[in-house]
Amino acid sequence: MSLLPPVPPSPSLTTPPARLPVREIPGSYGWPLLGPISDRLDYYWFQKQESFFKKRMEKYKSTVFRTNVPPSFPFFTNVNPNVIALLDCKSFSHLFDMELVEKKDVLVGDFVPSLAFTGNIRVGAYLDTSEPQHSKVKKFCMDVLKGGSSIWVQELVSNLDILCDNIEASLSKSTSATYLFPLQQFLFTFLFKVITSIDPSLDPNIANSGYAMMNRWLALQLSPTISIGVLQPLEEILLHSFPYPFFLVSRDYNNLYNFIKQHGKEVIEKGKMEFGLSEEEAIHNLLFTLGFNAYGGFSIFLPSLIEAIGKDSNGLQQRLRKEARETGGSTLSFDSIKEMDLIQSVVYETLRFNPPVLLQYARARKDFWLSSHDSAFDVKKGELLLGYQKIAMRDPVVFDEPDRFIPDRFTKAKGGAELLNYLYWSNGPQSGTPSTSNKQCPGKDYVTLTAALIVAYLFRRYDSIKGDGGSITALIKA
Ligand code: HEM
Repeated sequence: MSLLPPVPPSPSLTTPPARLPVREIPGSYGWPLLGPISDRLDYYWFQKQESFFKKRMEKYKSTVFRTNVPPSFPFFTNVNPNVIALLDCKSFSHLFDMELVEKKDVLVGDFVPSLAFTGNIRVGAYLDTSEPQHSKVKKFCMDVLKGGSSIWVQELVSNLDILCDNIEASLSKSTSATYLFPLQQFLFTFLFKVITSIDPSLDPNIANSGYAMMNRWLALQLSPTISIGVLQPLEEILLHSFPYPFFLVSRDYNNLYNFIKQHGKEVIEKGKMEFGLSEEEAIHNLLFTLGFNAYGGFSIFLPSLIEAIGKDSNGLQQRLRKEARETGGSTLSFDSIKEMDLIQSVVYETLRFNPPVLLQYARARKDFWLSSHDSAFDVKKGELLLGYQKIAMRDPVVFDEPDRFIPDRFTKAKGGAELLNYLYWSNGPQSGTPSTSNKQCPGKDYVTLTAALIVAYLFRRYDSIKGDGGSITALIKA
C-alpha cells in the first residue's frame, strides 16, 4: 500500500506544486438552465448520486471536475448549482484548510434553508471561522458536551436497556422487529439528556413525540437536497422543485424550543454568562446541535453500524463478543473502549464504508492551487468546492481493497492509527482535533466512543444478532 503523508495542503499555494502536472479542471456547467436541470435529473433520477459522481469521474479521467448539483431550476433561482467536485482523499483535504476555504452558509451547499427553521438566526454550523460568533457557539457546544460526559455512559446504558427490551418484546411476537422509530426514540431521549441535561420525560408530549417533531423539522429544511426514494417523477415534482415553508413545522419547533426554555435554565444561563450568547441564540443553537447534528447524524450512522454487524457471516460476531466480554472491565466506561481495538476498528470502518454525511462544501477564500494525487488545478476565489465522501473514502491510493468492508482495517496490528489521518467523516481527519479555528465536528470523539460502547453493550447482552439497516430478525441472549 502506498500511503501518503498526512495531506493538509500548504496555504501558500500561489504557484502550482512543482512535482504535479497542471491541468485545467475538466467538466462544464453546460448551457444556462439546461445544464443544471439535466444534471439535477441525472443526480436524483437517471443515475442517482453515487453513479452521478462516478460516471463523471470516469468520463473526465479525473477525481476533480466541474459539475452542477441540485437544487436548481425552476424555483431555486437564487441558488448557484456550479461546483468543483473533489473525489479523492488528497483533493478532499483542502476542505479542512481554513486559510484556503471559507464555510459561510455552505452547510448543505449554495442553498440555505430558510432562517425561520432556526429562529431567524444563523446557527454555528452555518458560520465561518472568521465570524466571531462561530467561536462563541463552538466553545458553548464543546462545553456542553464536556458537561454531559459525566452522565454519558450511564444514560447510554440505561436507555439501551429500554431499547433492547422493546426490540425483544417485538421479536417475541414477530419474526422481524423494525427498529428505526424505537432507535430514534432512544437517540432523542439519550441525546436530549446528555446535551441539555433536561429529561424529556418532564413533558409526556416531548417524551413520546419529540423525535417525530425533530424528523419533520429536519425533513422540511433538507427536502431539496436529499432523495428519499419516492417514485419518480413525483419526488422531483414534490420534493426537489421548491423549498417547503417553515410554518408547516412551526408548532413542532416551538414546542421543542419552549420545552428547553422552561426546563433548561442552567444550560441557557451557561450560554449567556460564560459564552456571551443571548437566550434565543443559546436555545436555537442547542436545538440545532441536538436535532440536526447529533440526532440527525446518529440516526443515519447507527443503522449502518447495525447492518455491518448484523449481516456478517464471517465470524466477526464471535470476535466482537470475545473482545467485549474479555476486555474493558466489568462496567462499561469511556476507558473500556480504549482496550477494544477491534470494536473501534469496526466503528471506523463503518464510517469509512458508509459515511453518514456524504457531502461537504466549502468556498475558495482566495485563488489557490488544488492538488489531487496526479494533477494540480487552478481554483479561483469564490468557487464552491464539494467533497463527496462515498468515493473519497474509497480512494485506492490510500485504502487497500477500498470496496471491501474489512473489520480489522483500523486495528493497531494493521497500522490503523496512520489510516485515521484519512478518515474524514467528521469534516476533518479522525486524527484531528475540533477547535474554534476549524469546522471539524466537535462531537467527533463522542460519536466514535458512543458507537463503540453500543457494540460492546450489545455483545455483552447477546451472543449473536441478525439484522440489517432497518430490522432485527434474531437475537440470541448471552
Ligand atoms: C454520527 C453523528 C454525527 C455525524 C455524522 C456528524 C457529522 C458532522 C459533519 C460532517 C460536520 C461538518 C459539516 C460541515 O460543515 O460541512 C459536523 C459539524 C458539527 N457537528 Fe457533528 N456529527 C455528528 C454528531 C455530532 C454531535 C454528537 C454533536 C454535538 C453534540 C455535533 C455537533 C456538531 C457541530 C456543532 C458542528 C459544527 C462545527 C462548526 O461549526 O465548527 N455533531 N458534524
